[in-house]
Order: sequence, then C-alpha cells, then structure tokens
Amino acid sequence: MKHKILVTGGTGYIGSHTIVDLIEHDYAVVCVDNGSNSDTSPLKTIKELTGVEVPYYNFDLCNLQSGETIFQDHPDISGIIHFAALKAVGESVEKPLLYYKNNLESLINTLTLALKYHVKGFIFSSSCTVYGDATTVPVDEETPWQAAASPYGRTKQIGENIVEDTLRNTEMKGVLLRYFNPAGAHPSGKMGESSVNPPQNLVPVITETAIGKRQQMTVYGTDYPTRDGSCIRDYIHVMDLARAHTLALQYIFEGHQKISCEVFNVGIGNGLSVLEIIEAFESETGVRFDYVKGDRRPGDVVSIYSDYSKAKKVLGWEPRYSVGDIMSTAWLWEKNRSKVK
Ligand SMILES: NC(=O)c1ccc[n+]([C@@H]2O[C@H](COP(=O)([O-])OP(=O)(O)OC[C@H]3O[C@@H](n4cnc5c(N)ncnc54)[C@H](O)[C@@H]3O)[C@@H](O)[C@H]2O)c1
Repeated sequence: MKHKILVTGGTGYIGSHTIVDLIEHDYAVVCVDNGSNSDTSPLKTIKELTGVEVPYYNFDLCNLQSGETIFQDHPDISGIIHFAALKAVGESVEKPLLYYKNNLESLINTLTLALKYHVKGFIFSSSCTVYGDATTVPVDEETPWQAAASPYGRTKQIGENIVEDTLRNTEMKGVLLRYFNPAGAHPSGKMGESSVNPPQNLVPVITETAIGKRQQMTVYGTDYPTRDGSCIRDYIHVMDLARAHTLALQYIFEGHQKISCEVFNVGIGNGLSVLEIIEAFESETGVRFDYVKGDRRPGDVVSIYSDYSKAKKVLGWEPRYSVGDIMSTAWLWEKNRSKVK
C-alpha cells in the first residue's frame, strides 16, 4: 500500500471517480463529505468496482473540530485532495456569501489540519474560471487572470492564493489543478454525475433531457461572438481528470516537485460550442431531443479552452478519452440510473 489520502468532497462527481483511480493505483483512501450535493451511493459503487470499502465521514469541513476527528482516527494521512466546494456558477451569483463562506472556510480548515498533521501533499480543485473572460485562447498557466465572472470563480482565485500563501516556506507541496469542463462517466456505466441538486453542467442536462426527465433544455446565449453563437468550452472526460490527480500525487511523493506550489491546466485543448456538443451527443447515441435558444446567463464567459502542454510535459498526463467517449459513457450512466434499456 502506498500513501493514505484524504479525499474531501469524495462522494461528489469528480471525487468518487478519483477515488476509484487512486485505489487502482494502490493508494489507501479516507473520504469526507457533508452530503450537501451527493449521497453515499458512490461508496457502494466504489466497493463494487474496486473491492475496497472506503472509510467515510459525514462531516462539514466548515467545522474544524469535526475534521480533527478524521486525523485522530487516521494520523497517517499523507496527502489531501480537496474537492469539497459548492460549484453552481448561477447560484453563486444569487448567493455570494454562501459560496465565500463554504468554499473558503472549508479550504482554510482543511489547510489548517494539513499543516497540523504534517501532510506532505495537497491538491486543490481549481477551475478554468480563474482566467475569467480570457482575451486570448487557448489559455496556459501563465495567461493573466481577468476579473472572475462569478463569485464561484472568485472563490477559486482566492482559494489558489490561500493555498500558495499557506504552503510558502512549509514542507508541504501543493498542486493546483485547473479543471476545464469535466463530463462523462465511469466506462462501466455504474458511476457518473448524480448530484443531489439538479445538475447545471451541460452534459447531464443533455442526458436528462434526452431520457425525458426534463421536457426540454435551454441553450443559454446564441448571440456570442463564436462560430455558431453559443459558448465554447473544453470538455474533459472525468476519468482522464481523475488520473491527473493520481499523477500529481505521484509527482509530489516521488520528490519531483521542487517549488512549494505548482499549477496545471487539465483540459483536452479542444474548444467545442454548446451546439456542437449537442450534435456530438446526437451523433454518438442516435438520440434526438428538444432544446430552445434562450438569453445569455450571468456568470458565463464566451470561450475558454486549454493549453495543457505543461501537464503533458511535467506530469506525463494526456487525455485518453474522446468527446464521443464522454457522450457514450454519460448516456450509458443516464440509462442505468434511470433503469432504461
Ligand atoms: N464539475 C465541474 O464542472 C468543475 C469544474 C471545475 C472545478 N470543479 C471543482 O471540482 C470540485 C469537485 O466538483 P464536483 O463536480 O465533483 O462537484 P460535486 O458537487 O459533485 O462534489 C463536491 C462535493 O463536496 C461536498 N461538499 C461541499 N461543501 C462541503 C463542505 N463544507 N464540507 C464537506 N463536503 C462538502 C458536496 O456534498 C459534494 O459531494 C469542486 O471544488 C468544484 O468547484 C468542478
């Protein structure tokens, strides 16, 4: 067994897929989640897929004392992957204080515990939202940040600053992973995005509409200055993203990281519009569905996609799944969870 990793937000979408990859790479995992956007069903699936029962704590990381309990039970935790956060851009525009409080307080508490218990590696779930409405694309890690387009995006900008400032002059190494648009599901079709709150990301909205859970979907904004008027994003398969975390931990634990904090873009470098993604879903699955063209949504940027050459060069990370794979796995998951043949 290699290192023991605390995965915060571990029953959530990216956290649960990352736990599978960590276990497959011989890491021991401890999971904490307050259940604000997930239930415990991924833990059963993780057991089914890997044979491992992951210790789970139903704690809110805004409560420092609860977090202490985890480290008292597991003093040998040597790495933390901090996924726990609220992530709905639109909701953050309506409820900024909820986002600042939850996302920053839970981060500060988790870092406090990491320092107190001499954790060696800390990985923070950042986001391409830190770039704001970028003036040029693709963006690389040196691209200057613009103003964040939402309070959610600003929690990621501030979160990165907090991690960098905290780790400076400590023994702990940090990696900031800037995710682009995670989508798709585990290839088994047994695990995927299953948030408690209605999903707002494009691909689950598409699959829910296609299966009939939603009557129709809205494409927010078709008058943007892009090739077809809809927003452009960089869709990355969730299992590719999961693997970036395992590689980042390996990079830290093998002693390759020399500076206190490294940052990596994790996207596939291919910008696709909302309308192109709908087309990709229809051509991959043969399923057609209704959508309407609506107004622009507050907090959305026009176009963003990644230059991921740093992650390729330094971590040896490269995407293995295509956009077609994203659609086929997301659809398999949707059919399985909706019990449709
Ligand atoms: N999915 C995306 O599109 C995307 C893109 C970029 C970055 N991210 C970031 O990646 C991380 C994981 O995202 P996800 O898509 O898996 O979201 P998710 O909502 O599925 O998972 C986050 C989990 O954190 C938990 N959580 C929230 N606040 C908590 C707290 N105070 N204490 C304990 N648990 C708490 C939630 O219950 C949830 O299970 C988040 O930090 C998110 O901001 C996500």
